[in-house]
Amino acid sequence: MHHAPDSNDWTWLQPLLTQHQGQAGGLLPLLHAIQDHRGFVPADAVPLIAQAMNLSRAEVHGVISYYHHFRTEAPGQHVVQICRAESCQACGSEALMAQAQASLGCAEHETSADGRFTLESVYCLGLCASSPAVQIGDRLHARMDPSKLQRLLTVAGGAP
Ligand code: FES
Repeated sequence: MHHAPDSNDWTWLQPLLTQHQGQAGGLLPLLHAIQDHRGFVPADAVPLIAQAMNLSRAEVHGVISYYHHFRTEAPGQHVVQICRAESCQACGSEALMAQAQASLGCAEHETSADGRFTLESVYCLGLCASSPAVQIGDRLHARMDPSKLQRLLTVAGGAP
């Protein structure tokens, strides 16, 4: 689980900025590194990112909002990623997404009201041979169906 940073404590961010500073095309790798580290890209970090990368805040904000992958708010305790690339799409990923939305009571890119789950689409988890695939937290699940998914959500929801 990721915690929101103390708003004035950017010590975690500095090494990431230093690492990518001055690199051509370094913004995307930097944003990925930040999200991997914190679970999201805090809005308050945008001015610092812009400064380090010699870009305007609007440019940084534009990139963050262009890529659905990036979150600007802390995710729930578990991120549920439903694969919607071709193979999984052909094997019923829409039904999985519908099941997840109904069960969690939230839409894609949203977090359930109890803060336990954030729901995302993903485009290929590398398990095409065992479609449809879902990732919950760090764990991959192959050959899913709506009732298996529901069981996983119930278990994960009870044991954060
Ligand atoms: S298309 Fe879903 S795992 Fe590859």
